[in-house]
Amino acid sequence: MSQTTITLFGATGKIGIEVLQLLSDAKVSTRAVTRNIQKAVSLPYINWVEADMNDPVSLEPTIDAGQCLFLLSPMSEHMVRQQINVIEVARRKAAAHIVKLSSGAVDVNASQPIARAHGQIEAALHHSDLNWTMLRPNGFMQNWLGELAHTVRHERTIYETTGDGKRAFIDLRDIAAVAYTILTQPREHRHKAYFLTGGEAVSYRQLASCIARTIGQPVTYIDLEPDQARQRMAQKGMPSWLIDTVLAYAQEQRNGQADVVSDAVPLILAKPARTMEAFIAEHARQFV
Ligand SMILES: NC(=O)c1ccc[n+]([C@@H]2O[C@H](COP(=O)([O-])OP(=O)(O)OC[C@H]3O[C@@H](n4cnc5c(N)ncnc54)[C@H](OP(=O)(O)O)[C@@H]3O)[C@@H](O)[C@H]2O)c1
Repeated sequence: MSQTTITLFGATGKIGIEVLQLLSDAKVSTRAVTRNIQKAVSLPYINWVEADMNDPVSLEPTIDAGQCLFLLSPMSEHMVRQQINVIEVARRKAAAHIVKLSSGAVDVNASQPIARAHGQIEAALHHSDLNWTMLRPNGFMQNWLGELAHTVRHERTIYETTGDGKRAFIDLRDIAAVAYTILTQPREHRHKAYFLTGGEAVSYRQLASCIARTIGQPVTYIDLEPDQARQRMAQKGMPSWLIDTVLAYAQEQRNGQADVVSDAVPLILAKPARTMEAFIAEHARQFV
C-alpha cells in the first residue's frame, strides 16, 4: 500500500507498538499518534504525528477520509471523552472503519468505571454511521510482569484475591496480531465484536506452580480477603477508581464467572493463542 491507510492511536503503548511493528514489517504505510514526538520509534513505513485525544483541534491532522483507525487510550477517568473526541473527528472526516480496543468486561451498566467507560464508547460507535470492530480482550499476561513479578522476585509469593477462580489471560501480542489482521482486512470483520482470550483458563495457584517449575524454586499463592487487597493497593497509592476496577475483575474470577475460553484468536489468526507456560518460560528472568 502506498498511501497512508491506517492511523494508530496508542501507538507507543504496549499493544500499539506491537501492532505498529507488524504493519511496518508488512510495508503498510501508517500514521502513528503520540502526545510526545520524542517517544516516536523510527520504523519503515511509519509516520508519526503529535496529537492529544483531550484536544479535538490537535486530532484534525490525524485522520483522512477512507482511513482505518485503531482506537486505544489507557485506563483513566478521561477515557470516554478522549475516545469520543476521536470518533467525532473520524465521522466528520468519513473514516472507513474503527477497530476499537475495548475490554472483555465491557458493560455499559457496570458499577466499575472502566467496563462502563468501554460500554459508553462502544455505544457511541454503535450509534454512529461508522464501520467498526470491537476487540474485547481478557486480562493481559503482561500484567504479571509488574507487581506480581516484583513479589515473586522478593518474597517468592503471589498475593491475589481470586480464590481458585480461573481466567483465560491473553498474551497482548495475540491482541496485536488480531488488530493487525482486522486493520488490513476490515471488511470481513465489519460490525463484529470479538472476546479475545488465551487458550486455557488458569488460577493464580496454577500460575504460582508454573513459575515455580520454571525457576526451580517454590512460589506461594496467598489468597487475600478483598479488604486486605484493597488496603495493599491503597498503600501503594493506587487511585480508588482503579482499586474498584481491579477488585471487580478479581471478584468475577473468584466467582468462576471468568472461567471462559473464546475461539476468536485461533479463528482469526489460524493458529493457537500463546500459552501461560510459554509466556513464563520466555519471561523467566523477570521472576528470579
Ligand atoms: N491491562 C489489561 O489487562 C487490560 C485488559 C483488557 C483491556 N485493557 C484495555 O487496554 C487499554 C490499554 O492498553 P495498553 O496497555 O496497550 O496501553 P498503554 O501501554 O498504557 O498505552 C497507552 C497509549 O495511549 C497513549 N495516550 C495516552 N493518553 C493519550 C492522549 N491523551 N492522547 C493521545 N494518546 C494518548 C499513549 O501514548 P503517548 O504517551 O505516546 O501519548 C500510549 O501509546 C485500556 O483501554 C484498557 O482498558 C486492558
